[in-house]
Amino acid sequence: MEPILQVKNLRTSFMTANGEVQAVRGVDFDLYPGEIVGVVGESGSGKSVMSMSILNLLADNAVIKDGDILYWGNSLLNFSKKEIRKIRGKEIAMVFQDPMSSLNPLMSIGKQIGEMIAVHNPELSKLEIKVQVLDLLKKVRIPEPEKRFNQLPNEFSGGMRQRVMIAIALACAPSVLIADEPTTALDVTIQDQILKLLRSLQEEMQMSILFITHDLGVVAETCTRVIVMYGGMIMEEAAIDDLFEQPIHPYTKGLMKSMPSINQDRKGELEPIPGSPPDMLGDFAGCPFAPRCKEARRICGKLLPPEVYLDPTHRVRCWLVTEQAKQIKISQDEVLTNNAGRGNNA
Ligand SMILES: Nc1ncnc2c1ncn2[C@@H]1O[C@H](COP(=O)(O)OP(=O)(O)OP(=O)(O)O)[C@@H](O)[C@H]1O
Ligand SMILES: [Mg+2]
Repeated sequence: MEPILQVKNLRTSFMTANGEVQAVRGVDFDLYPGEIVGVVGESGSGKSVMSMSILNLLADNAVIKDGDILYWGNSLLNFSKKEIRKIRGKEIAMVFQDPMSSLNPLMSIGKQIGEMIAVHNPELSKLEIKVQVLDLLKKVRIPEPEKRFNQLPNEFSGGMRQRVMIAIALACAPSVLIADEPTTALDVTIQDQILKLLRSLQEEMQMSILFITHDLGVVAETCTRVIVMYGGMIMEEAAIDDLFEQPIHPYTKGLMKSMPSINQDRKGELEPIPGSPPDMLGDFAGCPFAPRCKEARRICGKLLPPEVYLDPTHRVRCWLVTEQAKQIKISQDEVLTNNAGRGNNA
């Protein structure tokens, strides 16, 4: 099967007064038709910058320094602004965390959803558009669509507003949906309903979904495959069951131990990962996680580990799994202790 979306060696930086913030540092992955892939990682790991790069929604100080983004084999980076606008919404759509900032507070939600349809289908009449909007409101399970059609965003609850955003994203039946923390701002029961909705819509419409979240518990419920990001890189990628049964990267293991959503039966034993994410300015000397890693060896702070495939669907970027590391025969006294003073990105 051919991938619908391919991200190849993507590097995205921001030019700032302090220097170059290298937010995405060589990310590679494929998204296949009909699958839901999760992207997890702590705040600042580059999840949003990576996904904004796909649709060219980056801030003005951003530069895509290297790599490519292919949609059905065609480079989106070679598309003109006009061509990208045609793709956006119609082929690839996005849902963000905060519906209030993306909705126009002064326009009825029926009209806002209708605008998305009208932009991509100028031949449709007003009535035809309204029929489609009502259909979409039903699809995202908003009760009493006729009545809701004319209401303003502030007449909707947070969860209902997120359903409106999903309706806008689905208005043109995109093949790919990028959902960037779509449930983070919602309370747990509403979050659950939105996740169920996304899953059933995915089945109904046969979309591919890139699901971005910092919560591994949400990934476990929603996705078939997971990408774990840290410091703008992919640290581990695996099928969902493999990742939960056999996490390899110390960062993945750390995330699992630190999350309430997947440790409900052992609440007292949550272990936050000590330390904080790396400074994204400049180059890293070694593995970006080394300063926080319990298992780090001397080499980890010095050289970036290569990516290793444990099997065709499970890859890890960690010295502990490489043949080289075994050959170096790291002795126990070389295991570095976790002291906060040791930075690896000087
Ligand atoms: N416009 C910008 N100018 C400079 N740096 C930026 C800009 N936008 C993002 N960054 C930096 O890029 C890095 C990656 O940010 P990104 O928003 O992708 O993280 P994230 O993984 O989505 O985090 P979160 O979970 O908080 O949403 C961060 O260090 C951030 O500070
Ligand atoms: Mg983000």
